[in-house]
Amino acid sequence: MSSEASNVLDIGQRKVDHLDLCATDAVAFKKVTTLLEEVRLVHQSLPDLDVDGIDLTTTLLGKTLRAPIVIAAMTGGHERAAEVNHTLAAIANDRGYGFGLGSQRAMQKRPDTAWTFQVREKAPDVLLMGNVGVVQARDMDVEIIATMIEQVGADALCVHLNPAMELVQPGGDRDFTRGTETIARLVKALPVPVVGKETGNGISVETARKLRDAGVSTVDTSGAGGTSWVGVETLRAEGDQKTLGEMLWDWGVPTAASVHNVVRCGMHAIATGGMKNGYDVARAIALGASAGGFARQVFQAFVNGGREGAEAFLNRVENELRAVMLLSGAQSVDELRRAPRMIGPQLREWMALTDR
Ligand SMILES: Cc1cc2nc3c(=O)[nH]c(=O)nc-3n(C[C@H](O)[C@H](O)[C@H](O)COP(=O)(O)O)c2cc1C
Repeated sequence: MSSEASNVLDIGQRKVDHLDLCATDAVAFKKVTTLLEEVRLVHQSLPDLDVDGIDLTTTLLGKTLRAPIVIAAMTGGHERAAEVNHTLAAIANDRGYGFGLGSQRAMQKRPDTAWTFQVREKAPDVLLMGNVGVVQARDMDVEIIATMIEQVGADALCVHLNPAMELVQPGGDRDFTRGTETIARLVKALPVPVVGKETGNGISVETARKLRDAGVSTVDTSGAGGTSWVGVETLRAEGDQKTLGEMLWDWGVPTAASVHNVVRCGMHAIATGGMKNGYDVARAIALGASAGGFARQVFQAFVNGGREGAEAFLNRVENELRAVMLLSGAQSVDELRRAPRMIGPQLREWMALTDR
C-alpha cells in the first residue's frame, strides 16, 4: 500500500477512535479547569423581568442566531461521522444555533467522503462553519480550500490550531512554521470569514494579537478545562509519545482567560472548551463572548439518547441560561455582557497577564 493510501486509511481510523474516546469522560482535563467557575454574576432580587421575555438572539459572523449557542466542530469522513453531522446540524438549524463541521482534510484526501460533511439539505439556514488545520492549509492552494468551502456551503471557515495535540499524536505534525502567514493569506483570498480556532488548549493574548493582525475577527477559544485533545492522543500513543502526552495533559490557557484575551484584542469570541451548562454560557458572555459552544457534552448526549437526548441537553442549557439572565437582571445578550460580575483570584491573575 502506498504511504498516501495508508495515510488516508489512518485518518478514517483516527476519526473513529476520536468518537469512541470522546464518548467517555476519560479525556477530560484532570486538574486544570475552565476558570469560568470564578466568574460570579450578581443576584438581582427585583429583576423586573419575565423569564419568557428574555431575548437570547445574537449575531455571529453576520448571521442572527436565535440563541447564543454553537455546536462546535467534531467530525466527518466516515459513516458514523455522517450521522453525527447530519443530525446535529439539523438540530442547530431548527434551534437557530451555529454548527461546525470537523476537519475537512478527510474530504480533500477522499472526495467520496464529501457527503459526510454535506449537511445543507438538512440544515439550509444554519450558520455553518467549515474546518481545516492551519498546517494543512499552509500546504494547500487557496483555490482547493475555496472549493471545499463551496462544496459544503459553509458561511465561514474555522482554521484549527492544534500544535500540542499534534506533538503527542502518533505520526502528528512537527513543523508549525508560517501559520500566521497562512491565516493572513486565507483571510485575504477566501470569500468567507476565517475563524481562528484552538482544539482544547486555549488562546493566549500573544496568539490573539497575531490572529487579529492577520485580519481575523472571530475566534473559537477551545480553552483548557474541557476535553483534553492532548489527552485523547495520549490514550492512542505509546512510549515516549505517551509520556509526553501525560506531561502535557492539562496544558493550556483556561477558557475564561482565553475569552478575555480574544475580547481584549477587539475580536468576537465563541467560548468553547468545557462548557457544561447555561451558567457557563452566561459567564462567558459576561466576559464578552458572543456565544458559547459545546462539543463533547452534546456529542455524549447524542450518543446516549440520540436526537432526543441532544435536544433535551440543549433545552436544559437554554432554560438555565434564561434563568441566570433573569436573576442577573439581563433581558438581552447585550445586557448580559454588561452585567455586574465578580472575578476570582486565579482568573484575575490571567487577566492581569493580558492587560499588563
Ligand atoms: C469527537 C470530537 C471531534 C473533534 N474534532 C475536531 C475537528 O475535526 N476539528 C476541530 O477544529 N475541532 C475538533 N474538536 C474539538 C472541539 O471543536 C472543541 O474545540 C473541543 O472539544 C473543546 O470543547 P469541549 O470541551 O466542549 O469538548 C472535536 C471534538 C470532539 C468532541
